[in-house]
Amino acid sequence: MIASADIAIKKTTHSRVSEQDVNNVPFGKCFSDHMFVAEYANGKWEKCYITPYADVPMSYAISALHYGQAIFEGMKAYKMENGETALFRPLENMNRLNKSAVRMAMPEVPEDIFMGGLLELLRLDEKWIPTSETGSLYIRPFLIATDEAIGVKASDTYKFIIITCPAGKYYTEPIKVLVETNYIRAVEGGIGFVKAAGNYGRSLYPTKLAQQKGYQQVIWTDAKTHSYVEESGTMNLMFVIDNTVITPSTSDTILSGITRDSVLKLARDWGMKVEERKVSLKEIVEAHEKGTLQEAFGVGTAATIAHIVGIGFEGKDYALPPVEDRKFSTKIDETLRNIRKGKVEDKFNWMYKVH
Ligand SMILES: Cc1ncc(COP(=O)(O)O)c(C=O)c1O
Repeated sequence: MIASADIAIKKTTHSRVSEQDVNNVPFGKCFSDHMFVAEYANGKWEKCYITPYADVPMSYAISALHYGQAIFEGMKAYKMENGETALFRPLENMNRLNKSAVRMAMPEVPEDIFMGGLLELLRLDEKWIPTSETGSLYIRPFLIATDEAIGVKASDTYKFIIITCPAGKYYTEPIKVLVETNYIRAVEGGIGFVKAAGNYGRSLYPTKLAQQKGYQQVIWTDAKTHSYVEESGTMNLMFVIDNTVITPSTSDTILSGITRDSVLKLARDWGMKVEERKVSLKEIVEAHEKGTLQEAFGVGTAATIAHIVGIGFEGKDYALPPVEDRKFSTKIDETLRNIRKGKVEDKFNWMYKVH
């Protein structure tokens, strides 16, 4: 781990934390006092520093802006019941960032920089972590190409940055989703399995169209046949059909979610039947007709669990059972919250304490 001494720290002289109710701020709009930056040039990571969160002068020619060499992560830190600060499975985010880096021809971020910078930042901005039951500090590590040059090529210089913001609930209500059978998010051989900025940019127009029709999100389907479900927004998808938890297996078109993995581990630990495989729309519709489709929900860091109450598909709306009747996803939601708050045993060692 890089020693704190290796990170040049310039603390803010005026903390903004007392101007906020950190337990009650809109998601992603209010940033904590400091940010961590690591700079890559000449084939190596050259310097790391923490400065007050601020706008920075930057050239409009940087390659991240033109050619999309930009990747990111989303993770959370929690205030536990005993007052300790802990991260949820942070090394998984680091590994995924580095998987994204390789696919996008960017340098990997070593553990001492990723974790060393993050821990130091959390020590400084501890007061920004919400203490409420459903609150957390959302952490956004990202890596961008910074060569000031027009011309499509992998950049020679990069910045790895971490900013954070207090966050409450992402979705305040259960959601309705529209199955997308025209536009695609990802294709085999593409970049759907990594967190590249371009994956999100391309999703906005179809999502806007779905929102105009009264849905909050789209369900992406496979690019070739549009007959298998993939994922939704920034969430992986899960269904409970006839008491079996069913989820699309991860592939190069689906992001391998850390929440997804955690939910599956808990389900298996509880002795539930779990199936990771292709999930067809035909199967979902048939289960709905037979009355065996008990639950549908999205899982991801931002939302944790987003109950799906309606699915629009081929001009028809399929209403799902009321949220009160959903035993599995409700238990998952409570269990993950309790693990993160340190209220129940952390059997899988998911919480990483910040000292
Ligand atoms: C496209 C996509 N799918 C799924 C997820 C869920 O992943 P995780 O549980 O690691 O947040 C995310 C969020 O990171 C995402 O952006």
